[in-house]
Amino acid sequence: MKQQALNQNEQSELQHIRIGLLGLGTVGTGVYRMIEDYQEDLQHKTGCQISISKILVNSPNKLRSIEINPDLYTTDPNEVLQDPNIDMIVEVMGGVEEAREYITQALNSKKHVVTANKDLIALHGGELLSLAGEQNCDLFYEASVAGGIPILRGLGDGFSSDRITKMLGILNGTTNYMLSKMAQEGVDYDTCLKEAQDLGYAEADPTSDVEGLDAARKVAILGTLGYNTEFSLDEVDVQGISSIDQKDVQYGREFGYELKLLGIADKQNEEVELSVQPTFIKKSHPLANVDGVNNAVYVHGESVGETMFYGPGAGELPTATAVTSDLVTVVKNIKLGVNGKGNVAPFNVKKMKPKERRKHSYYVRLLVQDEPGVMATIANSLAENNMSISNMVQKPYSEEKAEVVIVTHEVSLLALEDWKGKIESLNPTLELASCYAVEGGE
Ligand SMILES: NC(=O)c1ccc[n+]([C@@H]2O[C@H](COP(=O)([O-])OP(=O)(O)OC[C@H]3O[C@@H](n4cnc5c(N)ncnc54)[C@H](OP(=O)(O)O)[C@@H]3O)[C@@H](O)[C@H]2O)c1
Repeated sequence: MKQQALNQNEQSELQHIRIGLLGLGTVGTGVYRMIEDYQEDLQHKTGCQISISKILVNSPNKLRSIEINPDLYTTDPNEVLQDPNIDMIVEVMGGVEEAREYITQALNSKKHVVTANKDLIALHGGELLSLAGEQNCDLFYEASVAGGIPILRGLGDGFSSDRITKMLGILNGTTNYMLSKMAQEGVDYDTCLKEAQDLGYAEADPTSDVEGLDAARKVAILGTLGYNTEFSLDEVDVQGISSIDQKDVQYGREFGYELKLLGIADKQNEEVELSVQPTFIKKSHPLANVDGVNNAVYVHGESVGETMFYGPGAGELPTATAVTSDLVTVVKNIKLGVNGKGNVAPFNVKKMKPKERRKHSYYVRLLVQDEPGVMATIANSLAENNMSISNMVQKPYSEEKAEVVIVTHEVSLLALEDWKGKIESLNPTLELASCYAVEGGE
């Protein structure tokens, strides 16, 4: 039931928090709408009146989907960053260098910051969080990973008592949409990409999504928060989906798997492995059923066991929900006088897991001469590298060749790479058509 509105006296007694919005695109528009539409609820929750008092944009005269007092617009960042009445900056303009400069200026002027910018946080989060701490300012970035899903708050607060051992995430809606379509409709990669672009899910230059870079930024952020260790983007091994063959999607399904672009953060015996790679997931695993543009993050904690966060990873209002929740936390902290006090600097020593201890099962598709002895060659070459077969099937390919699809038992990445390096020189030779990790059981 809706609470009673505050009367005029109560309203005038409320502390007034003024926000400077950097950007009024998809997310900024959602944030503006939420602050307007939920004003009463926000006042009850925070005990403060919250308003947007300046908006930095590129083109103030652009036609927009909401009506806004034109006096709020500016193209001069100083009008926002130097305004002593502005308490907080919400950075939803994107990009790295300008956003970094503006956030640095805002923190140096003791303005709190909320951002949705994963590119910036993955590259410069450590430096900006240190500065925020020095300035007794809050810097929150919930929307930077999995849009509307409160995964960062889940890791930072909900699981603060536990030790996280594994995080598996479907962190990019565009690629998940494409892979779902390839699986369910048997459509090839190029057709799916074109459709994703026509629907506005994929950008004209889709590289960041399809080559896994967008997901890698989120894995670096998840790893840093989940394992209390500062990881950089270049510590995430990245493989995208652009070379995926429809055939593998369907063969995998015959084995009982769905192919997903998975962000993996795994920690065993203090050693961490971070990657983004197309991965087959057992159909019984909850991540296998996450379809379309949705995101999900599966988290395994030493004490809590298995959990999963699921929902919209992007879009105007879902993303604005995360940004506005951060903003509410900042306002509550202002009331309590504890801004900047909740920042926990990463305290664990970093140890990346070496290839000999990075163990997975693998799906492997080989092209082989269809002749006697070839199966023995495959079996012997695997055995020489301490690899063993969990499942195998042979498929016709051409008059001379056949396809052999294998699912291995767990094997180290080192042994797998060693085997891959040898197979072309075997007699008869084996040609590697594809190879993907398998999660959730063979
Ligand atoms: N879209 C999503 O669903 C989503 C989800 C999670 C996170 N994010 C993150 O949220 C941020 C914003 O994304 P978005 O999709 O809302 O972006 P967008 O639609 O492209 O909007 C960007 C806004 O920033 C303004 N802007 C950009 N560069 C500027 C500059 N140098 N000076 C002044 N104004 C500038 C633009 O002004 P004009 O309007 O005048 O052009 C526009 O209003 C990004 O970091 C993105 O990664 C987005």
